[in-house]
Amino acid sequence: MVVVRLDRVTKIFKGGVVGVKDISLTIKHGEFMALLGPSGSGKSTTLYLIAGIYKPTSGRIYFDDRDVTNLPPKDRNVGLVFQNWALYPHMKVYENIAFPLRLKKLPEEEIKRRVLDVARMLQIDKLLDRYPWQLSGGQQQRVAIARALVKEPDVLLLDEPLSNLDAILRISVRAELKRLQKKLGITTIYVTHDQAEALAMADRIALINEGRIVQVGTPEEVYNRPATVFVGGFLGNPPMNFLEAEVEDLDKEIFLVIGKYRIRAPERYWSIIRRLKTKRVIIGFRPEDTSIKPESLDTICLPGRVYGIEPLGRENIVVIEIGGELVKIISGRRISLTLDQMVWICPVMEKIILFDPATGKALDRLVVEEKIRAI
Ligand SMILES: Nc1ncnc2c1ncn2[C@@H]1O[C@H](COP(=O)(O)OP(=O)(O)OP(=O)(O)O)[C@@H](O)[C@H]1O
Ligand SMILES: [Mg+2]
Repeated sequence: MVVVRLDRVTKIFKGGVVGVKDISLTIKHGEFMALLGPSGSGKSTTLYLIAGIYKPTSGRIYFDDRDVTNLPPKDRNVGLVFQNWALYPHMKVYENIAFPLRLKKLPEEEIKRRVLDVARMLQIDKLLDRYPWQLSGGQQQRVAIARALVKEPDVLLLDEPLSNLDAILRISVRAELKRLQKKLGITTIYVTHDQAEALAMADRIALINEGRIVQVGTPEEVYNRPATVFVGGFLGNPPMNFLEAEVEDLDKEIFLVIGKYRIRAPERYWSIIRRLKTKRVIIGFRPEDTSIKPESLDTICLPGRVYGIEPLGRENIVVIEIGGELVKIISGRRISLTLDQMVWICPVMEKIILFDPATGKALDRLVVEEKIRAI
C-alpha cells in the first residue's frame, strides 16, 4: 500500500497536444480513486503517467516519499489493466496470468502458487486451461485483472476495465471489483467516463475536464456540491438542470428573473450575491430534487409546459419547457400529466446551486477563491 501523489504534473505530447495540465492529486493508502471525465479529457494520460509509461513534461510523481518521476514502469510495482484489456491470444489463461512473473524470472513453484491464489480469488481457477477466445467477456476481464494483481502491486491502475462488458455484467462485476479492492486494500486508481460507475465504486472521485482536475471529493460531495456547471452536468442521470437568470436585488430580498418569471433567491446566497456583485447566475437543480405541481403560489416555483414524458418503470422523467429551455424532472408515476399541460416546477430550495455564467464556477467557491486571493 502506498500513497500516490502527483505534484503539478503536465504532459504535452509531441506536436503540442495537451494531455494533462498542472494536475495535483493525492491518492491515499488503500484508497479507491476514480478518475472521471469525458472522452479526451486526459484520464488515460494521467494513468500512464502514474504507471511510468509516459514521462511528464513537468511536475513530479511520488509513491510515498519516493520520487518515481524518472523510474521506468517495471520499477514502480504497479498493476495495470488497459482500456481494452487485451490478453495474449496464443497463451492459455494460466500463462496469461503467469506472464508478469515469468518476466521477473521467479521460480516455477512460486509462479504456480501465486497464479492459483489469484485465480481462486477471482473465481477463474476452473478456466486456467482455456484460451482467451474460449472465455466470456466477463471472464476475460477477470483474467486481465488477475494478471495485474498477480504481481502483488503497490498500486492498481485500471483504465475503463468494464467498458467492453454488457450493462448487466458491468453492474455485477463492478460490485465484485469493489469488494476485492477493499479486501486487498491496494491503492487503486480507476479510470472511467461512466458517472454511475464512479459514484458506485469510488471512495473519492477526481473529475477531469480538458486536461485539468475540476473537483475532487467523495461521491456525496461531488454530487451534492458540484464545484462547476461541468460537474453538475456530468453527474446524475438525468444530470443537473440549468437555467440562466438575472439577479434583481430589492434590498429586502433578492429575486432571480427568468424571462417573464422570477423566483426568490435562496437566502443563503444573498450575502454571496451582494459580495460578488453578481448580475447574472445559472440556477442548478437536480431532477430528483424538484417537484411538479398543478398549481402553486410558492415563490420558488416556475410555470412550465409538459413537453414530454419518459416512463422508466419505477418513475417518470418529465421534460418541461420553461421559457424556451427544457428541464428534466423525476416524478413518481402516480402523478398524471398530459402533453402541453401547464404545470409548476418547484426545486427544493436547500438543494439549489447557483453558478457564475462567466466561469461556470459555483458562487460559494468564487467567494472562497476571493478570500484566498485577499490573504
Ligand atoms: N500518444 C499521444 N500522442 C498525442 N496526443 C495524445 C496521445 N495520447 C493522448 N493524446 C491526446 O491527449 C488528450 C487526452 O487523451 P487521453 O487518452 O488521456 O483521454 P481519455 O480521457 O483517456 O479519453 P477516452 O475516454 O476517450 O479514453 C486527447 O486530446 C488525446 O488526443
Ligand atoms: Mg482513455
